[in-house]
Amino acid sequence: MDYKTRTRIAGILFDEAVPVGNEVIVLGWIRTVRVSKNVAFVEVNDGSCMKNIQGVIGDPTAFPILEKLGTGAAVRMKGTLKPSEGKGQQYEIDVTELDLVGEADQTFPLQKKRHSFEFLREIAHLRPRTNTFGAVNRIRSKLAYAIHQYYQERGFYYIHTPIISASDCEGAGNLFRVTTHDLADVPVADGEVNWDDDFFGTEAYLTVSGQLEGELLATALGDIYTFGPTFRAENSNTSRHASEFWMIEPEMAFAELDDDMDLAEDFLKWLFQYALEQCADDMEFFDQWIARDEELRKRLEHVVNSSFERVTYTEAVEILEKSKQKFEFPVHWGADLQSEHERYLTEKKFNKPVIVYNYPDEIKAFYMRQNDDGKSVAAMDVLVPGVGEIIGGSQREERYDVLAERIVKKQIGELENYGWYLDIRRYGSVPHAGFGLGFERALMYITGMANIRDVIPFPRVPRWAKF
Ligand code: 4AD
Ligand code: MG
Repeated sequence: MDYKTRTRIAGILFDEAVPVGNEVIVLGWIRTVRVSKNVAFVEVNDGSCMKNIQGVIGDPTAFPILEKLGTGAAVRMKGTLKPSEGKGQQYEIDVTELDLVGEADQTFPLQKKRHSFEFLREIAHLRPRTNTFGAVNRIRSKLAYAIHQYYQERGFYYIHTPIISASDCEGAGNLFRVTTHDLADVPVADGEVNWDDDFFGTEAYLTVSGQLEGELLATALGDIYTFGPTFRAENSNTSRHASEFWMIEPEMAFAELDDDMDLAEDFLKWLFQYALEQCADDMEFFDQWIARDEELRKRLEHVVNSSFERVTYTEAVEILEKSKQKFEFPVHWGADLQSEHERYLTEKKFNKPVIVYNYPDEIKAFYMRQNDDGKSVAAMDVLVPGVGEIIGGSQREERYDVLAERIVKKQIGELENYGWYLDIRRYGSVPHAGFGLGFERALMYITGMANIRDVIPFPRVPRWAKF
């Protein structure tokens, strides 16, 4: 069969690639087939866009193949493109040839009806064929591309940081170990596991963040960004935590916390605007079917055209203390902000994205720059309604002595293991800052999808690594 001469449905409907009256070949999967005595309709989707194209068959008896065509089957459909008389569609195909490429029988689980997202997670191998997951995967692709565009156009270099790492960037201990030791017979020396004999000659993990290596590159190339998978063995079974997720981490040399917040705000707004403009069809679907009463697009437009609220951690705590809200976790200066607190700030108090900055040293990572007050660090988190934290970032501690002291104080590991990280503070040290955007959290906010398991094709979460 000749597959090369096909036209994508997106090409037909959006790019007007085929003039009306011309012959067109479509390859795709059947969504519905309706056959009556005098006419048959075959609706095909090829994944190139949300919309289907409908093939019309004037004389069903001339197409005995119709009996074999069920929802889910793959077909090749050839015919003449013409304006549609049906509602809600611009074009249809007057079918002259219809071939079965791959059969699907009655057991195909995605028959035409609404399925719960829970059910669809169990069949994640097939869910990309649904409207929702077609849209999610298309937006993921477009925004991944857009992110590169944003940084490349601004002179940031794309850096590949290692996925296997010997250090714990966040110091939170949520690490997946990488080893070739035989787990049934682990070599032991002096009563402890002998890592010296392991593959890397040291303990190794899947990285939780590319930041530390990103800093090394930023203090050579100026402005850099990473965009890659990161791994966290947090046992949190929530709608916002995944064990494997993608993170975008820009890092700027000669930059302070203000510059970091400015970049975060500009980047997010640009990304939202891009989704609204370049993914309009899929965004309309999310607006109508996923986030129905939230007015998704209006909300994003509003965010793009207004400024984020910026409050210090101290101000945030005051706001929370003064609120009449009952929180499960009490708030006081020094406490980590819980999801309920973040939601109060961003959903109830400000009703827009909020940047909280200058957090207590105690609850933040060792690499963050100590403020002059001696108790807070130059950290910032971006919180958004519905999702909570989507960005975590900071100005980095560029003073050798202060950093060395923090590594010891926070018991991050042996100082000698961080010699490479400290070295850039010994030779031409500069103020620098960066942040990490969780790609899935950004997608949740943009699409209105409520669960992180539904914005990545094959989620990895506690007790789930299927597919
Ligand atoms: O706040 P985090 O832990 O910051 C860092 O990793 C820094 N090293 C980033 C940097 O400054 N270069 O993580 C950054 C973001 C969070 O704000 C959140 O959006 C996302 O990564 N994130 C997760 N997303 C999904 N599942 C998880 N378990 C996540 N943990 C963090
Ligand atoms: Mg964080």
